[in-house]
Amino acid sequence: MLVSATEMLKKAKEGHYAVGQFNINNLEWTKAILATAQELQSPVILGVSEGAGKYMTGFKTVAAMVAAMIDEMNITVPVALHLDHGSYEGCYKCIKAGFSSIMFDGSHYPIEENIEKTKELVKVAHAMGLSIEAEVGSIGGEEDGVVGMGECADPDECKAIADLGIDFLAAGIGNIHGKYPANWQGLSFETLDKIQAKTGVMPLVLHGGTGIPADMIKKAIDLGVAKINVNTECQLSFAAATREYIEAGKDQQGKGFDPRKLLAPGAEAIKATVKEKMELFGSVGKAF
Ligand code: 13P
Repeated sequence: MLVSATEMLKKAKEGHYAVGQFNINNLEWTKAILATAQELQSPVILGVSEGAGKYMTGFKTVAAMVAAMIDEMNITVPVALHLDHGSYEGCYKCIKAGFSSIMFDGSHYPIEENIEKTKELVKVAHAMGLSIEAEVGSIGGEEDGVVGMGECADPDECKAIADLGIDFLAAGIGNIHGKYPANWQGLSFETLDKIQAKTGVMPLVLHGGTGIPADMIKKAIDLGVAKINVNTECQLSFAAATREYIEAGKDQQGKGFDPRKLLAPGAEAIKATVKEKMELFGSVGKAF
């Protein structure tokens, strides 16, 4: 069932668990994530970066594929199709294409401009029945060409953006996209605590979910995080399983080169990663 992410995240915040956003890149990714969510009876958010959208030939293709898969695979758990780190123009494209949720990442603009653009997009998204995420304080590292320095968000700026009527808020707390460097300082729970105190019931979003230790994830959920984004970890699992298949020479045995066989271990590896995350985030059995 394709839905906006508003309700599922409200319930997650109230129930002290988090819903995973898993980024998709192609049919295999989408199918593996949807199948796992259904099997575990977990709500799920499919994240699409602008780069991944382009790769899949455009947001219309993505929306059509996801809607058709939900139907053909009999997916009954709540699924949100969400633009990840959207530009102003990208948000409008996804609203038109049939996404059920968008993220406007205005964190690189001066705060006044971020507020102004977010405010406008909140109106449009809500009029069309979509949920909307906004960002304050950039997430570190690189996500499909969007580069952030990883600063901690200003809690007052978070409050100003939260007050615009957005549905959930991404706030930088020292998190980084991609792999964490060996000298990473960890999440700033002090900042998270201050943000939560200012924004109250607003579900908070933790980007850069790959490689954050389980105890930090649990503490972040305790402090108000209701959505956690995972991208790199599924890519790493897919790549490792595919490498193992090829290095074992399995593509050379029988019809092992058939793409349905060649890509199967990678797809199974994505399922295992998604399952592990859903269990850690506490969203298993929460599809209602
Ligand atoms: P990772 O690359 O750390 O998995 O982060 C994903 C993310 O935050 C997508 O917005």
